[in-house]
Amino acid sequence: MVTAKAPGKLYIAGEYAVVETGYPAIVVAMNQFVTVTVEPAVKYGSIISQQYQENSLQWQRDGTRLVFDNRDNPFHYILSAIRLTEKYAIQMGVPLQLYKLEVDSDLDSDDGKKYGLGSSAAVTVATVKALNEFYKLEMTPAQLYKLAAIAHLDVQGNGSLGDIAASVYGGWLAYRSFDKSWLAAARNQYSLRELLNMTWPQLKIELLTAPKDLRLLVGWTGSPASTSQLVDRVSIAKAERRSEYAQFLNDSESIIENIITGFKQHSLAKIKEGIHANRRLLNRLADFSGVEIETAPLRKLREIATDFGGAAKFSGAGGGDCGIVIIDKQTDVSALLDRWQNADIEPLALKVHEIN
Ligand code: PMV
Ligand code: MG
Repeated sequence: MVTAKAPGKLYIAGEYAVVETGYPAIVVAMNQFVTVTVEPAVKYGSIISQQYQENSLQWQRDGTRLVFDNRDNPFHYILSAIRLTEKYAIQMGVPLQLYKLEVDSDLDSDDGKKYGLGSSAAVTVATVKALNEFYKLEMTPAQLYKLAAIAHLDVQGNGSLGDIAASVYGGWLAYRSFDKSWLAAARNQYSLRELLNMTWPQLKIELLTAPKDLRLLVGWTGSPASTSQLVDRVSIAKAERRSEYAQFLNDSESIIENIITGFKQHSLAKIKEGIHANRRLLNRLADFSGVEIETAPLRKLREIATDFGGAAKFSGAGGGDCGIVIIDKQTDVSALLDRWQNADIEPLALKVHEIN
């Protein structure tokens, strides 16, 4: 039997812009995990999951058709990860087997709370990692990232894949996404095995070290949000508001570069300044795209944290889920957390997950 686990993540800065080729974001792995175990089976294989089941499906109406949206259903990421890893195993000359694959997740608690820590990415990475061991494929982290990114993209169809990087590498990362249209074309030209050994244009994953005086707080709004749908809506605005969008990308890049410099100089002040600037910029994107990114609870979360000297913003696509705060370790945060609780913001006792 083999067991593999992969952490969830939170975006710290650079959201939405990072969906575009080469634009940077800061993302961090958190200590909540998806665990996958694989053991040999006879007669038939099985996939067993407490949390992820095909027992409810979301659909929209398109005229007379029912259109299913699989993008928020982790079960499809498990299937995609299996399909791709087995394709790779075949190309490596490894014989396929029957197995029982079991999935357990901290990211979706039994009482149905979904914190928005990116279960689809973590479940994809954990499944690929477990099968990598089961079939003894000896993929490196870089190959694992690439295979899991393709598996994830096959289901979601959009997104930066920064959450896959966080889940593979752990810790704090500066992430720049690869060219997705290059990948689509390259997949027609090269085998999976070749693709995993190639340099992917513009992809850059850089490990960062947080300054010693940096503390990360996470607050949860209690309402779930669909990243894939929010990203779709921003892409529509991108076509309609071209020059504002181009300006947004430029500004995001320089703000995130400053934050990366802040990490390299161990300057908490510079990182905090960048978080404030990025939040203002993302609110401008929300204004011109007409998408509600910073909801009322997320704004409250931020304003309370700002009163205590923290630099706060929503994390990821917004629309609900979590907000993050970067604050000095010396600051006594008990009053901040009390005020969050009075405002129905639940502080999450999460820690950064470092993989050594
Ligand atoms: O809402 P989350 O935590 O899944 O983050 C989404 C971040 C975006 O930049 C909006 C999309 C992406 O895929 O990077
Ligand atoms: Mg989210």
